[in-house]
Amino acid sequence: MPLRPAVSILPDANAVARRLAARVADALRANPSLVLGLPTGRTPLLLYEELVRLAKDGTAGFAAATTFNLDEFIGIPATHPGSYRSFMQRHLFDHVNIDPSRINFLDGSAPDAEAEGCRYEKAIEKAGGIDLLILGIGTNGHVGFNEPSRGLAARTHRVTLKAETRRSNAALFGGDPDAVPAEALSMGMGTIFDARSVVLVATGERKAPCVEQLVSGPITTELPASFLQLHANVEIMLDKAAAQKL
Ligand code: GLP
Repeated sequence: MPLRPAVSILPDANAVARRLAARVADALRANPSLVLGLPTGRTPLLLYEELVRLAKDGTAGFAAATTFNLDEFIGIPATHPGSYRSFMQRHLFDHVNIDPSRINFLDGSAPDAEAEGCRYEKAIEKAGGIDLLILGIGTNGHVGFNEPSRGLAARTHRVTLKAETRRSNAALFGGDPDAVPAEALSMGMGTIFDARSVVLVATGERKAPCVEQLVSGPITTELPASFLQLHANVEIMLDKAAAQKL
């Protein structure tokens, strides 16, 4: 078993998106009922653009696929333009042949966050688990909304967002960090770990410090992504800028 996660370094963010989209398309061809775990953020935008292109030209087929998004804000309805659900509709789901009944999302307006977390865990289990989970990474090393802290939650749970995370999500709320919900629901580290394969994607020099720690640093709850070093099937996909400290 490798001592460090596999790292791929591509020339730029477009090349990363093309490589990852091709990997998703291949996985869908090998298993049309693939269960995908999907992230939001600026990083996967190019990936979704490329997947839409591959879906339109018939290279990627989503008809029998199932998706589970990693996280969602608490306190706003799915229809809110700032919700991650709206983000996914805008950038992927509205443009590919996915069956809406196979799109799974955490409900940020559920009255009982704990019950909602349990419902999501059961839904993932019922779908047979996540085959391929794509992750971004926050500049503070968060994955999903698992923020750096003294302890990490194993399963889907409620989180209080750090100020820097609210700032980096402000674009979805008219640029105002105070308008970003203070809490969210997120898959836990155990949920992430249970995925059969994981690809973490990071692009741009802003991500270079956390990528360096993720690949070469100690495993610590202060950098939740560092736990991926222990996953048996993980690939870290980077552009040159994000890899500049390796
Ligand atoms: C949000 C999401 C994360 C994502 C992170 C990075 O906080 N909850 O899943 O990885 O943003 O975002 P970006 O790709 O915009 O840097």
